[in-house]
Amino acid sequence: MKGIILAGGNGTRLHPITIPITKQLLPVYDKPMVYYPLATLLQAGVDDILLISTKRDLPGFKALLGNGSRWGIKMRYAVQPKPEGIAQALLIAEKFMAGGPAWLILGDNIFFGYGLPDILRRIPSETRGAAVFSYYVSNPRGYGVVELSAGGLPISIEEKPASPKSNYAVTGIYYYGSDAASMVRKLKPSARGELEITDLNRMYMKQGRLLVRQLGRGVAWLDTGTPDSLASATEFVRIVESRQGLKVACIEEVAYRAGLISRSDFSKLAAAYASTPYGEYLRRMDREWR
Ligand code: DAU
Repeated sequence: MKGIILAGGNGTRLHPITIPITKQLLPVYDKPMVYYPLATLLQAGVDDILLISTKRDLPGFKALLGNGSRWGIKMRYAVQPKPEGIAQALLIAEKFMAGGPAWLILGDNIFFGYGLPDILRRIPSETRGAAVFSYYVSNPRGYGVVELSAGGLPISIEEKPASPKSNYAVTGIYYYGSDAASMVRKLKPSARGELEITDLNRMYMKQGRLLVRQLGRGVAWLDTGTPDSLASATEFVRIVESRQGLKVACIEEVAYRAGLISRSDFSKLAAAYASTPYGEYLRRMDREWR
């Protein structure tokens, strides 16, 4: 299964932090932000990934993630010259998708929770078009907002509405079928000059081909858009990890559990890892699984 990570943009809301480096390479507690969406894709069954970022930032991602082979996946890279909208990622990825479906995840979206891998893995057999994930939030104004009928079908979907019709935000993970790029070609740029993902999803909705799955209370969906939400995400991961003694989004562990690497591959990665808490964790897991 293929997946796209969109990890570009201006990151202006985090200036001056993001003047020299893109947001998705910043740490969220003990690992770079992009590890979290990467782990989510692996849990969805993805093993072939296109990461899209700016020309300036791609070298950083390449240094961090390489060709993916150590995790049993394929990593490829593409430039988005200007941040002209999330939906543009599907045009950039058209060749990569090669006429098949793909997951798309925003490089700054963190998901954590029980049952998520199963929900994601079922999606390809559940939709004829696209799928999005809704999440109840107290203040939906800063997001795409979806309104559902009593039967759970989407009736409206709006980007950052002043008067939201529901409390259901649309999260930053999407699934698109093979016709995604041709659908994007029908879009016109919005007033802010972007190909809006919400406009694309509305088009699928109007054709009766948009599946909306609700992520329940058992799943945490975290924001990283402001200094406060970034600090909260770090604190969330720190608390969960120190309480459980288990890591969130440890790519080596996720790859092993997803069957992408063997037990002996994992041992080798653990043995070779630097002497950091992350490396110590890998070695502890390696001992415990013996
Ligand atoms: O996080 C979920 C929300 O993400 C959705 O509810 C919204 O419907 C969706 O529009 C998006 O809203 P944001 O306000 O978070 O979008 P933003 O422009 O901040 O972009 C999200 C991420 O994608 C950000 O890390 C930068 C990256 N990006 C964005 C654009 C527009 C790119 O790499 N290229 C782009 O052209």
